[in-house]
Parts: sequence; structure tokens; C-alpha cells
Amino acid sequence: MKSVLLTGGAGYIGSNVANFLLDRGCKVSIIDNLITGNKNLIPKKSKFFLCDIANQKRVTEIIKGNNFDIVMHFAGLVKVDESIKHPKRYNNFNYNKGKIFLDTCFKNNLKKIIFSSTASVYGNANNKKVKEDNNLKPINPYAKSKIKLENYLIKNSKVKNFKFIILRYFNVAGADKRLRSGLISKSSTNLIKVLCEVATGKRKKFRINGNNYTTKDGTPVRDFIHVSDLAEIHYLTAKYLIRNNKSKIFNCGYGKGYSILEVVNKMNSISKKKIPIVFGKRRENDIEVSISCIKKFHKHIKWKPKYNSLKYILRTAYEWEKKLSYIK
Ligand SMILES: NC(=O)c1ccc[n+]([C@@H]2O[C@H](COP(=O)([O-])OP(=O)(O)OC[C@H]3O[C@@H](n4cnc5c(N)ncnc54)[C@H](O)[C@@H]3O)[C@@H](O)[C@H]2O)c1
Repeated sequence: MKSVLLTGGAGYIGSNVANFLLDRGCKVSIIDNLITGNKNLIPKKSKFFLCDIANQKRVTEIIKGNNFDIVMHFAGLVKVDESIKHPKRYNNFNYNKGKIFLDTCFKNNLKKIIFSSTASVYGNANNKKVKEDNNLKPINPYAKSKIKLENYLIKNSKVKNFKFIILRYFNVAGADKRLRSGLISKSSTNLIKVLCEVATGKRKKFRINGNNYTTKDGTPVRDFIHVSDLAEIHYLTAKYLIRNNKSKIFNCGYGKGYSILEVVNKMNSISKKKIPIVFGKRRENDIEVSISCIKKFHKHIKWKPKYNSLKYILRTAYEWEKKLSYIK
């Protein structure tokens, strides 16, 4: 794999993946309109195009002017709460624009796609580890918009003669160990980002929504995956797709869950502070337990996670948050 076209490379996950690919000698071209991204996250060694993914003319020029082996499509809107307030906007950015972008790729003979999807497509899975063939029960417009693009890929693969890998991420967290990239959004709703903001004194309190779930300590349980492991998954699945030319859907997590209280307690020990917490009411439609079954991924792809440690995830996120004060 020599040359990768990556959308959303000014964002959290896209920029981490771009760094990972560049470290392994790949050429990386990034398309991003900076709607939520930050130009400081774009790796200097990549080629950057300030462009909307739905700008067919410009995207065609970019594809024709380069010799890409594969596309990694990260660009989109990612906040569940915002999607509940603005469902049409989410459908437009994540589905309509995504579809236009993919069709531009297919028309220009770029026919291998890695697509960033989400565990929220599963909805509430009755506290069991979720497998890729579980029923999809999206409970918010964000998840619905992601499923629509998944279905577009699945339904059109034969007719339009392309292959894809859909990666359903669980809770992505942490920062690159060299602190080149991490979560930068000022109004992030990402749990660990918010916790780091409290730990560094940027917010006063950490709010836990619901402490009467049927989990061990009453708080929801999540499967956190370090962003650098997720970056390696992209690298390996891209190589798999190029070598085998087979479409697949894979969960991306560690297959292990931590409760929100466990995460807070671990952060207390890392930051050597007692994080002030408040308990709020459960949010409507919040998922109680979200843990991946990762057997399918391991069956097809040889991989050992390097950062499968809550302590490491939180430490890198905390170090990044401290560094963020210096980034404008
Ligand atoms: N962060 C997570 O925990 C998580 C979990 C599951 C899935 N995902 C998926 O991963 C992908 C990346 O998420 P992230 O957390 O890095 O988000 P992010 O907001 O940090 O990055 C998204 C990037 O896409 C760009 N973008 C959005 N719309 C665009 C458009 N029309 N044209 C060009 N650029 C556009 C933004 O400017 C931004 O740089 C998303 O598709 C998201 O659905 C993220």
C-alpha cells in the first residue's frame, strides 16, 4: 500500500491514522473542509486539500492527479446529542455527502474503501458482547446516518464493482504517544475528553448520567480502544483489502468493558486529584453496556493490540489535554 486518500484527516481519528500511515512510509493525501477539524492536527508530511467531500469537481481532480491505492473515509459529524437536535444536518453530512463522495471515487476507478462506522449502530444489545451480525437498532440520528452509508456500500458493491471494509468503532480514546494528535474539539462530548478537562481544571465537575443501571456499580459500561491501536487496525485492514479484495464488516474494540466510575477512579490515580463528580439522571436512550465481540476481526487479521490498558489510554489523553493549552 503506497498511497492513501483520507477524508477527515484534520479530525481526531483521521489525523492519528494519517500519522500512523506516514510513519510506515505510505503517502497520505487528506481532504477536509475543517468544519470541525483543526489544521494543527494535519500532519506536515501529508498533502492537504481544503475541500468538501461532496465537491465532485475538486475531488475528481484530486483523484485524477494522484495514484491512490485505497480510500479511508472518516469525514462526518460525530456528536450524538447534536444529531438529536439536527437530524437532517446529520443525514446530509454523513449520508448524502458521503454517498456523493463515494460515487466520485467509484467513477474515477478508486474502488477500495475503508469506512469509519460506529458501535452505536447496534443500539442497546441487552448487555451482551455484540457481534457484527447482531440486529442493528440505532437509537439516534447519528447512528441512523452511519447505517445508511453502510447499507449503501453493502447494496452497491456488486453493481458498482468495488470492495469495502466497514469498521465499527467502540469508544475511541487516548492520544498518540508522541502527542502529535488527540481530541481537540472545544465542545466535545467524548467522555474521556470531558474527564480530562475536569482533571486539568478546565471544567468544574464531571457528570455521570445515571447510577442505577444493572451494572456492577450502577454506571454504564464501555469498551475503550486506544486511538493508536485503531490506527494500526486501519493499516492492517487496508493491507487485507488490497491483498484479498474481499468486503468485510469488523468491530473495533478490546472486547472488555469498564464502568464510568472505574474510569473516574483510574483518572483520580493518574492525575493525583480527586475528580469532583455529580450524578445526573439517565439520558433517554443511553446504552447501558457496550462491549465488542472481536472474534471475527482476529479470525481474519493477525493483530495484537499494543495499548490495551485503561491506564495508558487515560494517561495519554491527560497528557494531551495538558499540552492542548498551548495549541490554538
Ligand atoms: N470518535 C469516536 O469515538 C468515534 C466512534 C465511532 C465512530 N467514529 C467515526 O469516526 C470518524 C471520525 O471521527 P472523529 O472523532 O475523528 O471526528 P472529528 O470531528 O474529529 O473529525 C471529522 C473530520 O471530518 C471533517 N469533515 C466533516 N464533514 C466534512 C465534509 N463534508 N467534507 C470534508 N471534511 C469534512 C471535519 O472537519 C473533521 O476534521 C467519523 O466518521 C465518526 O463517525 C468516531
